[in-house]
Amino acid sequence: MLSRALKLLLLLTAAYLCVFAQEHPEPSEVRPSIGTSCCHALSAMMPSMVFSNGTPEYDARHMTYYSLQQQELFPTCTVMPTSAVNVSLIVKFANANQCPFAVASGGHMSWAGSSNIEGGFVIDMRSLNQIDISVQDQTVMLGPGSPWTNVYNAMTPFNVTTTGARINTVGVAGFLLGAFASVTKGFGADNVFNYEVVLANGSIVEANKDMNSDLFWSLKFAGSNYGIVTRFDMNTYPSAAIWGAVISYPYTNQSTSDLLTDYANYGHDDSNTHIFKAISFVHSNGTDTASIVEVNLNPIPLANVTSVPALVSFELTGPTHDVISEVIANALASTARTEWYTITTEIDSDLFTDIYEGGLKIFEPLEDREGFTLATGIQSFQKSFIEGAAGTPVYNALKQPNADLVCILLMATWTNPADDVAMKAAVLQFGAWAEAEALNRGLLASYIYLNYANEQQLIYERSVTPNDLNTMRKIQKKYDPSGVFTQLWRGGYKIPQEGYTGPETGPGFAEVQNSSGL
Ligand SMILES: Cc1cc2nc3c(=O)[nH]c(=O)nc-3n(C[C@H](O)[C@H](O)[C@H](O)COP(=O)(O)OP(=O)(O)OC[C@H]3O[C@@H](n4cnc5c(N)ncnc54)[C@H](O)[C@@H]3O)c2cc1C
Ligand SMILES: *[C@@H]1O[C@H](CO)[C@@H](O)[C@H](O)[C@H]1NC(C)=O
Ligand SMILES: *[C@@H]1O[C@H](CO)[C@@H](O)[C@H](O)[C@H]1NC(C)=O
Ligand SMILES: *[C@@H]1O[C@H](CO)[C@@H](O)[C@H](O)[C@H]1NC(C)=O
Ligand SMILES: *[C@@H]1O[C@H](CO)[C@@H](O)[C@H](O)[C@H]1NC(C)=O
Ligand SMILES: *[C@@H]1O[C@H](CO)[C@@H](O)[C@H](O)[C@H]1NC(C)=O
Ligand SMILES: *[C@@H]1O[C@H](CO)[C@@H](O)[C@H](O)[C@H]1NC(C)=O
Ligand SMILES: *[C@@H]1O[C@H](CO)[C@@H](O)[C@H](O)[C@H]1NC(C)=O
Repeated sequence: MLSRALKLLLLLTAAYLCVFAQEHPEPSEVRPSIGTSCCHALSAMMPSMVFSNGTPEYDARHMTYYSLQQQELFPTCTVMPTSAVNVSLIVKFANANQCPFAVASGGHMSWAGSSNIEGGFVIDMRSLNQIDISVQDQTVMLGPGSPWTNVYNAMTPFNVTTTGARINTVGVAGFLLGAFASVTKGFGADNVFNYEVVLANGSIVEANKDMNSDLFWSLKFAGSNYGIVTRFDMNTYPSAAIWGAVISYPYTNQSTSDLLTDYANYGHDDSNTHIFKAISFVHSNGTDTASIVEVNLNPIPLANVTSVPALVSFELTGPTHDVISEVIANALASTARTEWYTITTEIDSDLFTDIYEGGLKIFEPLEDREGFTLATGIQSFQKSFIEGAAGTPVYNALKQPNADLVCILLMATWTNPADDVAMKAAVLQFGAWAEAEALNRGLLASYIYLNYANEQQLIYERSVTPNDLNTMRKIQKKYDPSGVFTQLWRGGYKIPQEGYTGPETGPGFAEVQNSSGL
């Protein structure tokens, strides 16, 4: 049966694209004359901070983008504020002159135009790179612009760590605004207890559980909707050393079965407080591997999960910084032509291998393309982890299935720009197929993890309940009444406008919710 559910899902996907096309006409394109006049005036206002193409500062910003597709967009200039006051001035300027802009911290969001812009200007946050550790209070004040490697490095002498990214070059801001996955303390964003943020009218405010508490809640799933964050205040945790490993096995029935059995135990263990695991299946250069990434917050190695001999194995006991840069960094390249897509499902070993193998079939015609790799990865949202997200807009949506969940990342990489169109189409096809497959098996959850999502996925419609989405809209109206950020801040994910009658309320979504048991 090409089930009713699948047809609906395909329809739904078509509806998504249609709505998306209407609401976001070519979000990354700006008339060249606007970029030129805006950069000219901006440069007159803050001459030492504005850089055009060809300057070392502009080029350094450019090279920082992870995805090579992002590196192929060229803003007319970049502006590099060193303080919240500078950011405020830039926002006021953009508003007064109707200048479109993008905001970039680490530059690691995957899709072109997510944190870069063709024409217009990029606000390059890398100079807001404060890392102030208070040993007494067990806190750290972080500027948005540091890569996590610098944060972990600064923390090493104090024997503390915090809930940051697992890859060093990822930026503080984008990671925390999309919210993920520390080992056990809930999302990264769940450990932020105060934000300093520049609002649409340029005012600089603090948001925490007592001040601007509605904004505080929204900022935990902010995307590019509420403000430009100039400081994150986070809790730290004592940690002198951890153990981490990345181990790759040949992809066989035995290795995948052993890895997935172990993973299911981990994914259902709600009492776990110190172990992180992720699994990925990777097709590269014609061969398939099954890999496991493991971290133990206690500095003790974990037992092998299979007796299959490893192909490659990295492991280390040491400070978070060293484990991440020497071990975990081996899991991903430092730049790539790439396209990502993500779905969230319940834990099911057959589903995971079937998705990977289904992906291989979909990509068969592209097998011979230069540098082609296909990867699927899984990471857990145990029920206990989901409870850690109670203070965030995604909580109600995440807990709806009342199940331990996993986020599945689908990722293709390649090297020839001539293959961009075919690869993108195949990733979208793969994503829609995988989602339909999970739906048919009654395993699909509505939630979509922002930081791994494709440009075309509807984050807010899927990851926040309709009620919470209405609340997010009201809060957005309160802090940005004239929609400055909606209009001028390009990239990231936007909250759909009021009056939007897409999947979250339409009949299609009800069917999906019904058949996926949400
Ligand atoms: C190699 C690699 C490894 C990764 N590893 C992890 C991981 O371990 N865990 C995980 O959860 N995710 C991971 N990710 C995903 C990553 O967290 C997201 O892509 C994240 O958005 C990157 O943050 P950034 O600051 O580098 O991104 P950017 O591309 O600079 O920004 C991302 C978004 O945030 C906005 N933004 C940037 N700065 C600010 C600011 N100061 N205020 C408001 N908005 C801002 C941008 O406009 C953009 O919309 C990884 C990605 C890559 C490429
Ligand atoms: C930028 O911020 C710094 C530090 O607050 C300040 O000294 C400087 O005057 C600001 N420059 C502009 C142009 O706002
Ligand atoms: C950090 O831990 C190491 C090793 O356990 C110890 O030698 C060092 O004194 C600790 N430093 C601080 C500041 O606690
Ligand atoms: C792996 O399992 C599948 C299905 O269970 C089976 O068809 C296949 O022959 C097995 N392959 C090997 C190499 O054992
Ligand atoms: C790819 O595989 C071929 C043959 O199997 C081998 O000669 C080549 O070195 C491999 N390339 C890489 C980059 O691993
Ligand atoms: C774990 O696997 C590695 C690599 O296959 C092997 O070298 C090591 O001896 C194994 N350890 C144990 C305790 O079996
Ligand atoms: C800026 O916006 C905030 C939030 O809407 C508001 O509280 C504040 O009064 C505004 N400031 C100015 C100077 O208009
Ligand atoms: C939801 O499922 C129930 C029971 O399976 C069914 O009776 C109902 O018609 C379904 N609703 C929709 C909107 O499909």
